[in-house]
Amino acid sequence: MVNGKKIVLGVTGGIAAYKACTLTSRLTQAGADVKVVMTESAAKFVSPLTFQALSRNPVFTDTFDEKDPAKIAHIDLADWADLVLIAPATANIIGKMANGLADDMLSTMLLATQAPVYIAPAMNVHMYAHPAVIENMKTLEGWRYRFIEPGNGLLACGYVGKGRLEEPEAIVEVIKDDLNKRETTPTLKGKRVLVSAGPTKEKVDPVRYFTNHSSGKMGFAIASEAAKMGAEVTLVTGPVGLETPVGVRRIDVESAEQMYQAMLEQYEGKDIVIKAAAVADYRPALTYEEKMKKQPGAWTVEMERTKDILLELGKRKQSQYLVGFAAETTDPLEYGRKKLESKNLDAIVVNNIKTTGAGFGSDTNAVTYISKHGLEKTIELAAKTEVAKQLLVLIGSTMKDESR
Ligand code: PMT
Repeated sequence: MVNGKKIVLGVTGGIAAYKACTLTSRLTQAGADVKVVMTESAAKFVSPLTFQALSRNPVFTDTFDEKDPAKIAHIDLADWADLVLIAPATANIIGKMANGLADDMLSTMLLATQAPVYIAPAMNVHMYAHPAVIENMKTLEGWRYRFIEPGNGLLACGYVGKGRLEEPEAIVEVIKDDLNKRETTPTLKGKRVLVSAGPTKEKVDPVRYFTNHSSGKMGFAIASEAAKMGAEVTLVTGPVGLETPVGVRRIDVESAEQMYQAMLEQYEGKDIVIKAAAVADYRPALTYEEKMKKQPGAWTVEMERTKDILLELGKRKQSQYLVGFAAETTDPLEYGRKKLESKNLDAIVVNNIKTTGAGFGSDTNAVTYISKHGLEKTIELAAKTEVAKQLLVLIGSTMKDESR
């Protein structure tokens, strides 16, 4: 998996810089083309010439050392890389990356690259446990940087603990496994995906509202998995207590009317639209600005229909692959097929909410995916994240197959 890959190895200033020599050697032996970027401090531990000899490539140390006037070295290197690895990564480079600082060749190239970045830290045990370093690492993890944890043992500073750069062989194995996973995982790279999730809240007065049992878990799982598969994801959600998935743009709404407006605004230019939200079909016909006082006897609230968002999206469909959900209790497949047709959908995900562990609120779901050309696939009871993954793979493949 490493064979033929273009790898930029960033070496920063710590005693573990000597291990980066073995790492360069292991990577080139595995068939990678390695270009080394060193910080000024790294060059105090190991000579750039050592890396040049091991990688058979020039070593970069100075942002302003522009050897080829036709190129800007740090941008050229950032674009060239299939993968960037920083080993050893000091607390300083981690801090700079987490704060977007670019004051030398390595940090400037890191801001410019679109390639996946792996960080193998090495530092004193107390530095590694410092809240500033922990926060910076969390920030970077949130941006999908991948950390290769340091090992435990005797550190060069004399302390024993966590902070030793992982062994070069183990770093190469992590990279190989990851590349293998990336290349076998179906991708949604370049696709723009719009997902709706959660319930809607339909207000009666400042105290009371109508809603349903949707927790948003299914829609959030879809948004999260789509982002992991490389899509650019927008999530329109009703009121839920869930964290925004990494890499997802979130738009919060409350009522069915607000969800209608947001979905229509976001619809144009999307490749895939998935409506997992449980939108209220009815809302109070009258709403009150002041709290309604209790009265003796019953209170009848007249309800009126909300707009059917999915129906409207089906009418306005251009090139979007439109997927609805159907939460049913009786004859789920039959009702699902009817919704698929009447709302001009490309596919529908049928949820028999009477199945134990499926539907509203749970962490698991079981569904049947039906495409407009008659493909029917059942996804057995599994975690909503797993169901989301399988659904996205099905959507990706039916989109391709059925457009031929
Ligand atoms: O949120 P969770 O707790 O994880 O639960 C997940 C879920 C059960 C809510 C989800 O898997 C699901 O089934 N969502 C659809 C629920 C639903 O409202 O089904 P429906 O059959 O009433 O609606 C059919 C489709 O029309 C849905 O895609 C819905 O978003 C859409 N709709 C409905 C009403 C309306 N006014 N506008 C709509 O767009």
